Amino acid sequence: MLTNKPKTKILVDGGDPDETLHLKNLLGFVDGQTTNPSLIAKNSAIQQRIASGHKLTATEETDEYRKIVQAISPLVGDAGVSIEVFADLDTSAEEMFSQAKQMFSWIPNAYIKYPCTHEGLRAAEMSVRQQIRVNITLCFSQEQAAAVYVATKGSNEPVYVSPFVGRLDDRGDDGIDLIKNIKTMYKKGDGHVHVLSASIRHLDHLLASFALDAELVTVPAKVIEKWATSNFPQPDRDFTHKAVDVNGKLLKPIPYKELDLNLTWQSFDITHELTTNGIQKFVADYRSTLKRSA
Ligand code: E4P
Repeated sequence: MLTNKPKTKILVDGGDPDETLHLKNLLGFVDGQTTNPSLIAKNSAIQQRIASGHKLTATEETDEYRKIVQAISPLVGDAGVSIEVFADLDTSAEEMFSQAKQMFSWIPNAYIKYPCTHEGLRAAEMSVRQQIRVNITLCFSQEQAAAVYVATKGSNEPVYVSPFVGRLDDRGDDGIDLIKNIKTMYKKGDGHVHVLSASIRHLDHLLASFALDAELVTVPAKVIEKWATSNFPQPDRDFTHKAVDVNGKLLKPIPYKELDLNLTWQSFDITHELTTNGIQKFVADYRSTLKRSA
């Protein structure tokens, strides 16, 4: 069990309550949980239904999602459970917000995940005005994080932004640099946005997230298990992360940009091809569980 709890809150990145319970037993606590449509599609109850030839209607899928987060909710601490709206590239902010209101009522500790797009940020703006906690996901650039900051200013609750470290590494960019750059940029702000380091692939990502004082990190089971079997190492003051990919190839640094957090959020260029690809992949995984007519 972990005795020296890091300052960074630790969330489980998954979609299975049994797995969360197992990790909670391993660590002694779990601060929170993140889910997404791909992780929910992999849930064993959903997969069993599909294997027995029963694909779901959209209503049944939503119902399964609700049951999963209701089982996870009491297992986790104050970082809550992030629930992602089902959105494709054409989903309007109003449609996302309508799903969010329903999802937010499922559990007392919900955070609603919206994609970091124009419509996602409009939905986030509406949400924070109505005290609905938000987590802006699929963040791949400092501009996107700046827009999240401005769009959610005035929120009574901490807002989460989820930069995807591993997916940036996958294309040769040093994803950890994005965490570092956003943390530096937010030093000029009011602290209402918390950085949730996501798409964690290995221990170095986890330790670098601690070293950079990310407020939160979401970690898949296999990395938490590896951390446990390695005796829960933590970064010391001399820690530097290894800017290499899983094959040992050097990753490209992401330079810091001076951005003005007093501008309107619409003035930042928030388009990013990985955000678009990410939405498409979530949609495909979600649809793979549905009956064709749904
Ligand atoms: C969590 O909120 C994210 O959805 C998750 O970390 C994405 O991880 P992946 O890039 O391994 O799919």
